[in-house]
Amino acid sequence: MSYQLPDDAEKARYVEQKFTEIAPKYDLFNDIITGGMHRYWKRFMVRQTGISSDAVCLDLCCGTGDITHCLGQAAPQGKVYALDFSQGMLEVARQRNFSGKERLLFLRSDANQLPFSSGKFDAVTIGYGLRNVSHLQNCLQEILRVLVPGGVLVSLDVGKIRIPWLFEISQFYFFHIVPRLGKLLYPGQDMFDYLPHSSIDYPDQERLKRIMLSVGFKQVDVFDFFLGASTIHVAYKA
Ligand SMILES: C[S@@+](CC[C@H](N)C(=O)[O-])C[C@H]1O[C@@H](n2cnc3c(N)ncnc32)[C@H](O)[C@@H]1O
Repeated sequence: MSYQLPDDAEKARYVEQKFTEIAPKYDLFNDIITGGMHRYWKRFMVRQTGISSDAVCLDLCCGTGDITHCLGQAAPQGKVYALDFSQGMLEVARQRNFSGKERLLFLRSDANQLPFSSGKFDAVTIGYGLRNVSHLQNCLQEILRVLVPGGVLVSLDVGKIRIPWLFEISQFYFFHIVPRLGKLLYPGQDMFDYLPHSSIDYPDQERLKRIMLSVGFKQVDVFDFFLGASTIHVAYKA
């Protein structure tokens, strides 16, 4: 394991550049490493928003726009803002042939400093994004600020399996198999080593829930998939 994570000062630039490099095959990579399950988890997370058909939503760290598109389908009279700082990921998202595309607004910006007024969104989603932002608590505070009272945040990310021997197997898959699968698509690309290493310091399900409560969310529900390897947090603003 000779891979070194970028330090905090370097992280944003590194993450932005690396996602741009892998953007054209990012969706294929996700399909391969999750066996297509990420599509089900993304639909599940959008259902958890409970949004009405005219809701105004924000998909943070939108990447190639899977969740953005699901939000657009769930709110056919609403509007979906989708934000990411990787030009490459946004280009793929903008080129996709989504239905209702005119209601999806893709913006290049930083999730740590949201360019929106307070109380604008009924729901915020973030898929595999909290693990990547440089300042987790700061990003959660920004999300809380832009939500309407009673609004909801839904985050999908990797979690930690609580059964020790299964946790070891999942770690072997994540640290040894996933990078090899990624490098079949992009030989020599170290982003596929970044992805598992970025989970080392990322809080487990219970700790993330406590952090969400500590920044001011009033209630947080947690849904685990694959015994916790994948996890969804649903956090409500008072
Ligand atoms: C693993 S991808 C997830 C993409 C998409 N949400 C999905 O679930 O397929 C993480 C995305 O977060 C974006 N990202 C990471 N940190 C960010 C930040 N501080 N501001 C905006 N986007 C960020 C990256 O550019 C990348 O597109």
